Amino acid sequence: MSRSLRIAVYPGDGIGPEVTAQAVRVLLGLAQNSDVTFALTELPWGINYWKQHGRVVPDDFLEVLRPFDAILLGAVGWPELLPDYETLAPLVQIRQTFDQYACVRPAKLYPGLKSVLAGKGPADIDIVVIRENSEGEYVDNGGRLKRGTPDEVAIQTALHTRRGIERILRYGFALARKRRKKLTMATKSNAQRYAYGLWDEVLAELAPQFPDVESERQHCDALVMNFVRWPERFDVVVASNLFGDLLTDLGGVLGGGLGLAPSTNTNPERSFPSMFEPVHGSAPDIAGKGIANPIAAILSVSMMLDHLELPSLAERVRKAVEKTLSGGAKTPDLGGKLTTEQVGDAVLANL
Ligand code: IPM
Ligand code: MN
Repeated sequence: MSRSLRIAVYPGDGIGPEVTAQAVRVLLGLAQNSDVTFALTELPWGINYWKQHGRVVPDDFLEVLRPFDAILLGAVGWPELLPDYETLAPLVQIRQTFDQYACVRPAKLYPGLKSVLAGKGPADIDIVVIRENSEGEYVDNGGRLKRGTPDEVAIQTALHTRRGIERILRYGFALARKRRKKLTMATKSNAQRYAYGLWDEVLAELAPQFPDVESERQHCDALVMNFVRWPERFDVVVASNLFGDLLTDLGGVLGGGLGLAPSTNTNPERSFPSMFEPVHGSAPDIAGKGIANPIAAILSVSMMLDHLELPSLAERVRKAVEKTLSGGAKTPDLGGKLTTEQVGDAVLANL
């Protein structure tokens, strides 16, 4: 049966367009000799759009995105020109409006790469962080009073719901079942008794429903330490929005570098399109130099293919990346000399 899938491509700012171009080449390369076609629509949003229109996305951007089967995002942000909270707002709005509550971020060290951790190899580093992506500290909920005065007050209140916690934990348990059957939940109930008290309770309620999965919780301060000391003890880690944000930058470097770390923003019910993006940002300092690592964007394509129920294509991408990296084709962030495009060439050749 042949399928045609509509993909919105939102390259964004900085190195976003450079890495996305390689991810798109890989996607189109896969479609050759297969019965799947990808209809790509490129959305020229971001800082250049802002220069012309005074905003980074059009007013109806959510309506524009809604009909697509998936969204492939590069990176957004150019802090020299526009404050991050303005350029990044659409990203968070996409996640929340499309109820992309499961942000899946693997931290996996591929053979041929070195982790920042001495003495730890690919057998030790294979973690998936499931970040709650729809609420927590990222709800737009707060305000500032007495601006600019010595009495200024800022309030930003996080929001945690039983429903939100339960669904992300269920998602984590289901994934742990398919992996090494261990789930660690990040908490901080020793200091934040309302929010993380609820997280702890929901975990305790759900755990008996997954007797085949070993579950535990760790306070997030200890958890970051343990990520570094004993990465091999972690399989699936479920975390609230902000904790998940922090843990996945750390996970990225444990897995060989942020240039390698992919991410989903998944709406598991498929009521809305899901979005796929590298964990790294727009990196303005190296933008336009052609040296950004495209692997994170390419691996994000493999996660998109899994979501689109094309697992054999997804696996081909992962295998091609594995072969590329173990063959020594690397950009400068990994100690190599290749350009973004040359690494893209290598992945395509290995497909
Ligand atoms: C990420 C990023 C975003 C986040 C920023 C760009 C808003 O750091 O995807 O991890 O904090 O979620
Ligand atoms: Mn982040």
